[in-house]
Amino acid sequence: MNPSKPTTVENSAVASHTTRESLTVTDNRTGRQYELPIKHGTIRAMDLRQIRVDEGDFGLMSYDPAFTNTASCISRITFIDGEKGILRYRGYPIEELAEKSTFLETAYLILYGELPTRAQLDDWTFHITHHTFIHESIKKFLDGFHYDAHPMGMLVSTVAALSTFYPDAKDIFNEESRRKQTRRLIGKMPTLAAFAYRHSLGMPFVYPDNDLSYPGNFLNMLFRTTELKYKPNAALERALDVLFILHADHEQNCSANAMRNVGSSHVDPYSAIAAATAALYGPLHGGANEAVLRMLMEIGSVNKVPEYIKRVKAGEKKLMGFGHRIYKNYDPRAKIIKRIAYEVFDVMGRNPLLDIALECERIALEDEYFVTRRLYPNVDFYTGMIYQAMGFPVTMFPVLFAIPRTAGWIAQWEEMLLDPEQKIARPRQVYLGHDQRSYIPVEHRGE
Ligand code: CMC
Repeated sequence: MNPSKPTTVENSAVASHTTRESLTVTDNRTGRQYELPIKHGTIRAMDLRQIRVDEGDFGLMSYDPAFTNTASCISRITFIDGEKGILRYRGYPIEELAEKSTFLETAYLILYGELPTRAQLDDWTFHITHHTFIHESIKKFLDGFHYDAHPMGMLVSTVAALSTFYPDAKDIFNEESRRKQTRRLIGKMPTLAAFAYRHSLGMPFVYPDNDLSYPGNFLNMLFRTTELKYKPNAALERALDVLFILHADHEQNCSANAMRNVGSSHVDPYSAIAAATAALYGPLHGGANEAVLRMLMEIGSVNKVPEYIKRVKAGEKKLMGFGHRIYKNYDPRAKIIKRIAYEVFDVMGRNPLLDIALECERIALEDEYFVTRRLYPNVDFYTGMIYQAMGFPVTMFPVLFAIPRTAGWIAQWEEMLLDPEQKIARPRQVYLGHDQRSYIPVEHRGE
């Protein structure tokens, strides 16, 4: 049977139980039955359209606000089992990558599907390192931002502006062009982020140092002051690299969906990445680590945690950094991050907010409200404290998420572009507004 061609079983009894990969639906409005193919655990939403009351009927649609049960694509990049707390990039467990890989190697894996050979890795690293500089004009419009402009706002704007510098990026079906934009984006995101940070401090921009690693150079562009050669602390450099690995992709989340959606109009990748970055900015997504820190500061001390949890349970507040649409178990990234937190605190000193966080976690993991809703710490619960201990201001936290996620966004975008089944994303709606009515002149309208 051709899985894309549903067969209609009109007015017939449902076939006796067999192992057919299909779903039989009875439309109780008409008594008709339909057999819809099941493939990869899904039915095709378009197969529902044949289910109609009469000829004039548009056909049945599925209603799924926030896509809670709709697969929008076939993907081979990232696998998550939220029940078991599993995360894999291209089949490799996140725990192994966090322990043994580097961010650039992992980015290559996510983008190209396989771990690079030594030669491929050297070539990739060389190209990323040699695409870190940004056009001098970008500095000029960064200067136009107010001194307290949020760096995420600056990042969204400057990455969008890159499209004006690289008009060749419009050639999205040219593999070589895509490769070039990929190198530019992964190379330049840390530079844009660091320049935004330096602008907010009123400090001169620090140019990239090609002798340093990807995270090492980023730390250099952020923190170098008078030293002739910046030497990143090895423990912090590695901690940042691991955090980058953990944030590199997370399948069809809000920002990946934004990347695919906007990219489906065939706009250039810089504009699509700006949209994805904007999606990440929100407090329910990449802005959550910032929100966690603000929450911990608001709680203020360990003895105030129970009172705060009470307010969360009363629906007045959210316990930021808890809960996940997909993970109904401990987020595997949160486990690794908790370990990194202690490694960073060993170098930089213990973050006093840690005790408040640990107490929140302890109570929440035992409390019936959180247990029954299966709310566990997510990736953002501990990252904020690590970033703060490393010397980042709170506003930089979502920016630190956007840098590595760029690799995932590009991989998702490219997969979408090359998928022959994809076209411009355009959901349907259920219209419940007014039926047609006539215009009323203003003098005849009531107050
Ligand atoms: N604190 C208190 N209650 C919560 C929380 C929370 N953090 N998260 C979910 N709930 C409750 C929610 O009120 C609902 O309760 P009820 O059934 O009584 O109405 C139930 O748990 C189910 O929650 P939901 O809002 O339907 O779940 P969702 O899948 O729509 O939302 C979420 C997922 C991540 C947006 C949400 O858990 C949340 O807002 N968490 C806090 C923000 C956060 O930490 N975000 C970072 C996500 S991980 C990084 C990323 O991917 O960007």
